[in-house]
Amino acid sequence: MNKSNVILCGFMGCGKSTVGKRLSKITGRPFVDMDYYIEEKSNMTVKEIFEKYGEAYFRDLEYNTAVELAQKDNMIISAGGGTLLFERNVQALSQTGTIVLLNVSLSTLRYRLRNDTKRPLLQRPDKNKAMAEMYEQRMPLYTRAADITVRGAKPPVKVCMDICKRLSIPMVKSPRTHTSAQL
Ligand code: S3P
Repeated sequence: MNKSNVILCGFMGCGKSTVGKRLSKITGRPFVDMDYYIEEKSNMTVKEIFEKYGEAYFRDLEYNTAVELAQKDNMIISAGGGTLLFERNVQALSQTGTIVLLNVSLSTLRYRLRNDTKRPLLQRPDKNKAMAEMYEQRMPLYTRAADITVRGAKPPVKVCMDICKRLSIPMVKSPRTHTSAQL
């Protein structure tokens, strides 16, 4: 089966959406952000979906999205931070895509997410402790799901170049033509 999709995976804040958008521009391939896709379809934010229907309901929407997107070709897909923790999503997405883990340290993620208000799993008083526990529990699962791992703390354009090189994806647009403000 043709595995032409690229699925970006990793912890909240690792840069999946930012890198995905940039990778889409550089490779000329269409981009879809799974959380955004779910939000558009349900006309609610992820936070609202969690609040109104609970996490299990969101996970089902996420699975349906994974199945739907796995039927497409040549897409750049940024998964949610929880997507690749579930075997059913790994099964679906890996049939037609290569899973790329953006590896970022816990301390960098903590810094990036210090003011976050939109991620339901982080809106808690013991956020630092919860993040450490989730990080420890999730990283082995991401690593197991991923076909390749790249360092995700570099500037997004560098992460994209690493991904293109590792997966032999042609860059149709030079990453250097973007201004530093866009990187
Ligand atoms: C989640 C990560 C979020 C979003 C939801 C659950 C998780 O996506 O899917 O809040 O379980 O890690 P991001 O990784 O894009 O923040």
